[in-house]
Amino acid sequence: MRTHVVDHPLVAHKLTTLRDLDTDSPTFRRLTDELVTLLAYEATREVRVVTSEIVTPVAPTTGVKLASPKPLVVPILRAGLGMLDGMMRLLPTAEVGFLGMLRNEETLEASTYAERLPDDLSGRQCYVLDPMLATGGTLAAAIHFLTARGADDITAICLLVAPEGLANLEAALDDLAVPVTVVTAALDERLNDKGYIVPGLGDAGDRLYGVA
Ligand code: URA
Repeated sequence: MRTHVVDHPLVAHKLTTLRDLDTDSPTFRRLTDELVTLLAYEATREVRVVTSEIVTPVAPTTGVKLASPKPLVVPILRAGLGMLDGMMRLLPTAEVGFLGMLRNEETLEASTYAERLPDDLSGRQCYVLDPMLATGGTLAAAIHFLTARGADDITAICLLVAPEGLANLEAALDDLAVPVTVVTAALDERLNDKGYIVPGLGDAGDRLYGVA
């Protein structure tokens, strides 16, 4: 597993306001959207392309186009939904599938409560959207779900990750042959005893959707 912490002053600037307790929901949604677009630029560095011959108004030339099958973007409900528009801005022709995962707040175990994905993901590059990689349980379950359907290259885009979550994820994916990359705006200090990332930004879903 590879982790890429995007080091860019605009990412750091937007993330600082996102973390701030005084940032209201509309601003939080807008900043999430902008941050995800910046992260998506890095996350798609290895998106598959094929060469394509075109003719400009001046001369024929060779360029590239996105390869088939199209990449699949998978927001994890609920909070991953707040990252979808920011991702689709860069990959407008990608397909979108949905995974609903719940974290039991006592055991911190993840379970799937909904899925809307193609049955066959053979040869698919998948971009999983999950804002907070805390214990890593949700993301590990989502990645296993996608690879069981045939996905052969997975990139997770997370606003924040905790060191414990990265370690757990790495261990959970130990037996997986499929390459997995995590792209994030920051590697935070730790998890607290409630499974929240410290310093973090609180509950991403609640802040996105204005739940007090
Ligand atoms: N989920 C969140 O929304 N925030 C955290 O800090 C951890 C998990």
